Amino acid sequence: MLVNMSELLLDAQNGGYAVGSFSVSNMEMVLGIIKAAEETKSPIILQIAEVRLNHSPLEIIGPLMVAAAENAGVPVAVHFDHGKTLEKIEQALDIGFTSVMLDGSHLPFEENIALTRKASEYAADYGADTEGEIGCVGGSEDGSEDIAINCTKPEQAAEFAKRTDVQALAVAIGNAHGNYKDEPKLRFDILEKIRDTVDVPLVLHGGTGICAQDFRRCIELGICKINIATATFDAVQNSVKTAYAENRIKGYYDLQTAEVEGAYRNALKHIEIFGCAGKA
Ligand code: 13P
Repeated sequence: MLVNMSELLLDAQNGGYAVGSFSVSNMEMVLGIIKAAEETKSPIILQIAEVRLNHSPLEIIGPLMVAAAENAGVPVAVHFDHGKTLEKIEQALDIGFTSVMLDGSHLPFEENIALTRKASEYAADYGADTEGEIGCVGGSEDGSEDIAINCTKPEQAAEFAKRTDVQALAVAIGNAHGNYKDEPKLRFDILEKIRDTVDVPLVLHGGTGICAQDFRRCIELGICKINIATATFDAVQNSVKTAYAENRIKGYYDLQTAEVEGAYRNALKHIEIFGCAGKA
């Protein structure tokens, strides 16, 4: 069932768990993640970032994601991740995405507010939700840039949330996209201050490489949506490698099965940690 993201995140906020937001780039990943969500009766979010569209064009993968959500036996929100341009955000909304992120985190504060506000206005016209980001999450979504981490300032987060009308707010607390070079040291003190000043559900990007204990601590401190991308891509790749090594790939459809299996196992693992099993 296709639902709005805010519906899932407000339930998560009240229930003290987080919803996994899994990046996908093909049908096999979509199928594996939905299978894990259905089996565990978990709400889930499917997402794709603007930088990934060169490999998976929005006009093709977008309708596939929406159709998968509509046909799922659990509530699924379809989210446009790290939107850079209002043009692509509008295209995602036209396709039926139920939430969009405008990532203006690299812009000066007032410019980030102005652009995120615009995205919120677009989304509101479609009855959809918006996610904004304040502070800089390290790395970049496709690994092409090594962006430095710049932690969110709690007072700015409160003002940002109020002036942009977002339904979800991504924070920077030492988290980074991609595989971490060193063990992440998350600033739980900053997260706690943000949670105390901001009402809207908080989002943790850069989920790959964060340990179960740190995920649980983040959830206790107000994180309601956790983005996972690299872990899915790595899991799919490793599942295929293992299947070849074990001589299980006899033809194309065995390869496809191994891909679905990799995405499924990775989603299952995260659903268990995030506490969202049985919440659908
Ligand atoms: P990872 O690739 O580190 O899991 O980050 C995912 C993400 O935050 C997508 O927005």
